[in-house]
Amino acid sequence: MSEPTVSPKTSTDFDSGHFRTVLGHFPTGVTVVTGMAPGDRPHGFTIGSFTSVSLEPPMVGFLPQVDSTTWQLMADAGSFCVNVLSSKQSDLCWKFAKSDPEQTRFDGVQWHQSPSGSPILDRAVAWIDCAVEDVYTMGDHLFVLGRVTALDADADHNGLPPEPLVFYRGAIGGFSAEG
Ligand SMILES: Cc1cc2nc3c(=O)[nH]c(=O)nc-3n(C[C@H](O)[C@H](O)[C@H](O)COP(=O)(O)O)c2cc1C
Repeated sequence: MSEPTVSPKTSTDFDSGHFRTVLGHFPTGVTVVTGMAPGDRPHGFTIGSFTSVSLEPPMVGFLPQVDSTTWQLMADAGSFCVNVLSSKQSDLCWKFAKSDPEQTRFDGVQWHQSPSGSPILDRAVAWIDCAVEDVYTMGDHLFVLGRVTALDADADHNGLPPEPLVFYRGAIGGFSAEG
């Protein structure tokens, strides 16, 4: 039998560190959720909690922190765009997280506008443009529910199938299909 990778703390008496460690064993894709502030200033942040919600009607969602500066800046626009990062875009994963101040995150980044006006990052694996349907408070996070208004996976990746960026146990890497 292989060794467990976390301490066998199975009681209900766990702390937030243990919660984060265990949940970090669930791999996610990496997205940058973007939006425009009134006045046409682009905003965006790295989000791993993106999920598909409903097919009919088409809806997706993600969970920013309740006190998220970025979400507050783009909430008034009423729309957002989810950019699924490729394995070649690991720099953007960190740039749109804490390592860059919010004001400079788009410096040097190539982007164009989605139909709703939000930034599409060039060469993302896919983009999903949404109108905000509802925002729910859930503990220390918000659940932002979006109705999908346009979407595509249209970037050229040098003629090769795009490879997504994957986040697992605090690190990022690529994905290789085995079957
Ligand atoms: C791979 C990865 C995934 C992340 N996923 C989320 C997420 O789902 N929700 C969230 O609130 N922050 C997430 N973050 C952290 C935010 O990107 C980071 O805190 C960002 O600076 C938030 O900006 P804000 O303080 O303006 O809200 C993630 C960071 C990384 C590196």
